[in-house]
Amino acid sequence: AVAQTPKVSPVAPRREQVEAVVKEAYEKFRNDTNGKNADYIPYLAKVDSKLFGIAIVTTDNQVLTMGDVKYAFSIQSISKVYSLALAMEELGPDKVFEKIGSEPTGRPFNSPVAVVDMPTHSGNPFVNAGAIATVSLISGSTADEKWNKILNFYSKAAGEKLVLIDEVYKSEAATNTGNKALSYLLAKYDRIYADPFESVDVYTKQCSVGVNATQLARMGATLANNGVNPATGERVIKAEDIPHILSTMMVAGLYDGSGTWAWNVGLPAKSGVGGGIVAIAPGKGAIAVFAPPLDEAGNSVKAQEVIRYVAERLNYNIF
Ligand code: DON
Repeated sequence: AVAQTPKVSPVAPRREQVEAVVKEAYEKFRNDTNGKNADYIPYLAKVDSKLFGIAIVTTDNQVLTMGDVKYAFSIQSISKVYSLALAMEELGPDKVFEKIGSEPTGRPFNSPVAVVDMPTHSGNPFVNAGAIATVSLISGSTADEKWNKILNFYSKAAGEKLVLIDEVYKSEAATNTGNKALSYLLAKYDRIYADPFESVDVYTKQCSVGVNATQLARMGATLANNGVNPATGERVIKAEDIPHILSTMMVAGLYDGSGTWAWNVGLPAKSGVGGGIVAIAPGKGAIAVFAPPLDEAGNSVKAQEVIRYVAERLNYNIF
């Protein structure tokens, strides 16, 4: 149901074209009522399901927005991308790959079965088990030191100071028995590298960081711009780490929906149960969409629709 009009030419689209396509997508999908808010984290069930925002930030720092782009939602699993980047900053890609791996699990993001079944146990940095193990790799003599380092790193990628949404953190910390179980399963296989519960706690905080769609698009644009934040000009991520991050997003960014996403859209992306998805058009920019109702795999329905539509119209598919 996507491409009724021809794709634009492969030359860089003009700002007005991008604006028109974003507006079309917004109008086309705004009344889609499919999916439902995540409810296993009580806070998320209460977020207004109608919130809907689209933001694009280009590598030359143009910003285009539509809808609810000022609302701060919890970053959730999208945080995993930036904790992976931070772990690689500290340890280099080879060590991180050896300690975590990068194989899609083909199972839900919180699957204990994948931890038992997979030769790496941790799977990849974007399922909960692999993400908790990734956090455990980040150095720091206390949990607070690790957490502050993570929050600062995310803030540099966003080009603005980000903060914890305390209510989300409390809501999730009170209900995250599944993640605690995953951390102990990892310990059984020697695949977690710091105290398991402390790692889950720092992970829970990182998932509770608030971002709006524009900040999220800027975090994505930092990846699209080879690691340099296009707004601040600061190098946040080493250029040599970028291909590892984007390839992991391609194979596991939308969990067990990643194959379908790659088939339909062909852009590295990452979703979170807060309703955000950010997709990267390398060298061009990033698009972030926020809309809380999710599909079965835990990916925002409207965000997938919008990004698919925009990527198709603007010829962003990297394949
Ligand atoms: O650990 C959890 O379950 C959440 N903090 C994050 C999961 C998530 O965002 C999966 N996303 N699609």
